Amino acid sequence: MQIHPTIAGLRAALADARHQARVAFVPTMGNLHDGHIGLMRKAREHADVVVASIFVNRLQFGPNEDFDNYPRTFKDDCARLADAGVDHLFAPDEKEMYPTPQRYHVEADPAHTDILDGAARPGHFRGMATVVLKLFNIVQPQVALFGKKDYQQLMILRNMVRELALPIEIVAGETTRADDGLALSSRNGYLSAAERAEAPRLNRQLVWIRERIVGGERDFLRLETEAVAELAAHGWHPDYISIRRRSDLQPAKAAQGDDALVVLGAAKLGKTRLIDNLEI
Ligand code: PAF
Repeated sequence: MQIHPTIAGLRAALADARHQARVAFVPTMGNLHDGHIGLMRKAREHADVVVASIFVNRLQFGPNEDFDNYPRTFKDDCARLADAGVDHLFAPDEKEMYPTPQRYHVEADPAHTDILDGAARPGHFRGMATVVLKLFNIVQPQVALFGKKDYQQLMILRNMVRELALPIEIVAGETTRADDGLALSSRNGYLSAAERAEAPRLNRQLVWIRERIVGGERDFLRLETEAVAELAAHGWHPDYISIRRRSDLQPAKAAQGDDALVVLGAAKLGKTRLIDNLEI
């Protein structure tokens, strides 16, 4: 695997390949787990050349969030990426990505960015979409892969690609889970042993909601309220549990029976904010 700290280096390395080969891209912030590695392997099914990136993007962290403490495990990540057959790793530092303060941003529809996670993390999706567009311009892939665990991120990026006519196919990877149902996340490492044992409850609440809806329950508000109360009763601080339309994450109305639905949840356990979702 070739490692490129600069944009020029990556572009030079891809210049020849680009003409004959299809390039797949998997952007990450490092601290890689099996979910990321699954995306790398899936990328190989879609392309001849697989490019990953590792860049902890300051723009998508709020002032009181964990940018400084975000786990950085570059050596281990490189070993895992090489083992997964990744061809090129783009690993810039902040000076390379933001040599001057970034003054141009992707402003998506606030109906997409200011809801759910965006309500709890103002500016997060603006910073995320901005860096992803910049990475797309640097790598110029034909296909890019993102995990469904960050469902709102995926929805925003699909819309960005469509509305800005970017010639990139977005492929979604299923969420990878531990045996007890907890969605794999770089932030799971923040959990104490007791919190780790409690953490699968978020997924269990989403499974419970999905089962109730599949079973014919149509009082969505009651399901959301009961799930929030169950989490709170076990020491969580829920941000939301919400049943939404998959396409645009607007609130689902039971009456509009044809919409494909997803139930999403975000809650804090101790200091760690966990998110998860399930398609219904
Ligand atoms: O999902 C992530 O790890 C990040 O949001 C991404 C897409 C790499 C952009 O920084």
